[in-house]
Amino acid sequence: MSAKSSQDAANLITETFLQRTSGSGEWNTRAKESMPGGDTRAASFYTPYPAYMTRGEGCFLYDYDENQYLDFLNNYTSLIHGHAHPATVSAIQEQAARGTVLGSGAEATVEHAEMLCNRVPSFDSVRYCNSGTEATLLAMRAARAFTGKDIIIKMDGGYHGSHDYVQLNMQPDTQEEGRPSPKLSSRGVPASTLEGMLVAPFNDLDALRDLLRARSGEIAAIILEPALGAGGGIEPEPGYLQGLRQLADEFDVLLIFDEIMTFRQDLGGFQAAIGVTPDLTSIAKFIGGGLPLAAFGGRQEIMAPFDPTHPMTIPHNGTFNGNNITMAAGLATMKDFGGGQVERINQLGQRLRNGLNAAFQTAGVGIRAVGSGSIIRVLWSCEKITNARAAVAAQEQALDLPRLLHLELMNRGIFSAPRCQYAISTPMSEKEIDIAVDVMGQSLDVVMPYVREQTPHLALD
Ligand SMILES: Cc1ncc(COP(=O)(O)O)c(C=O)c1O
Repeated sequence: MSAKSSQDAANLITETFLQRTSGSGEWNTRAKESMPGGDTRAASFYTPYPAYMTRGEGCFLYDYDENQYLDFLNNYTSLIHGHAHPATVSAIQEQAARGTVLGSGAEATVEHAEMLCNRVPSFDSVRYCNSGTEATLLAMRAARAFTGKDIIIKMDGGYHGSHDYVQLNMQPDTQEEGRPSPKLSSRGVPASTLEGMLVAPFNDLDALRDLLRARSGEIAAIILEPALGAGGGIEPEPGYLQGLRQLADEFDVLLIFDEIMTFRQDLGGFQAAIGVTPDLTSIAKFIGGGLPLAAFGGRQEIMAPFDPTHPMTIPHNGTFNGNNITMAAGLATMKDFGGGQVERINQLGQRLRNGLNAAFQTAGVGIRAVGSGSIIRVLWSCEKITNARAAVAAQEQALDLPRLLHLELMNRGIFSAPRCQYAISTPMSEKEIDIAVDVMGQSLDVVMPYVREQTPHLALD
């Protein structure tokens, strides 16, 4: 059945989803009785309801109705080897039988830390925590402690987790003209948070220099993702990160890279690929082999106060920091992720970007697949976009198209982030990439009436 009008297309997509996933629908109805929204994570929510998955095997997921999906979400880039990777499963089983958390030092933690310090250019030493949120919070705290200054600059549209100090300008204000001003992104965050933070547009060294000049002497650090993830999939312009490093040195502020998503782009992270070494880095996602693990690290003298015997120690606690089962899973996963694997999934990422862009052209839709390495993102415009405000404005103008496309891909067995982001895992091959590209072509056929009627600026013909 093919849709004629935008309403027909939207109805067809939603009806197909509801029919295919009735088991998920039942779970969602029940879940809403005990959890607001029926789930516990905003980023994985979509309407009419998120599918409920029962199991994952390699690059596949299965939902309650036994629909099979190729998993391009990979829990937001955190499953580098897909689901139930044999070495990771063995490590977890073995450690579970010996105790999940022994409340002590452990061999796997030491080996994991050594591996990270060998791989990541900015890591002289490292500490562990349980989420990316904690890792950015602690990196920011370390920067304030080291410099004795309080203010931190973040990027408009930069995402660094859920702690209060980064709940500003997560979603850029698309109505604002000129340089972005700091604005809280969530109710419940103290207004005083704004006193400790400044905001700069990504890819704009002039704006950053002006901020550094204006508040010289008050600024501890600049924190940013080397490529904006949630803020639209924006890559750094040539020379931007190098210029940022120079500005940080010139104004004597620390540079913090949030590599929680970008770490998978090279064995030593984005910083190794681009040759720019920050003072501190936070990482997370796949380093725990699918269990919750994050780390922050940096120059020796900045990290030294995390030693409890340091005269000016910074207390760093966490009941499950470095817990044995997570460290065992993480180490097994990392040992199986070498340079050859990085190169292979990055090439598959490029194949997917190229294939999707060809599919968009063939369908006559003016959108683009962007990103780098094994992370692919749809930008809702053909124009050159270099900051989060422009990316989000383009997405707003695409109205319901991103949601419909995401849902139709699911109807055809492709699972991705609702914001239309795709991550490659090592069990994937060219075959899976080409399937995804074909499915995108079929899905575009279904959404075309919507594009022509509701978002004609995106119709190329
Ligand atoms: C760049 C970036 N920073 C921080 C975080 C927060 O990590 P977590 O969800 O583990 O708290 C995320 C999560 O997606 C992220 O992508």
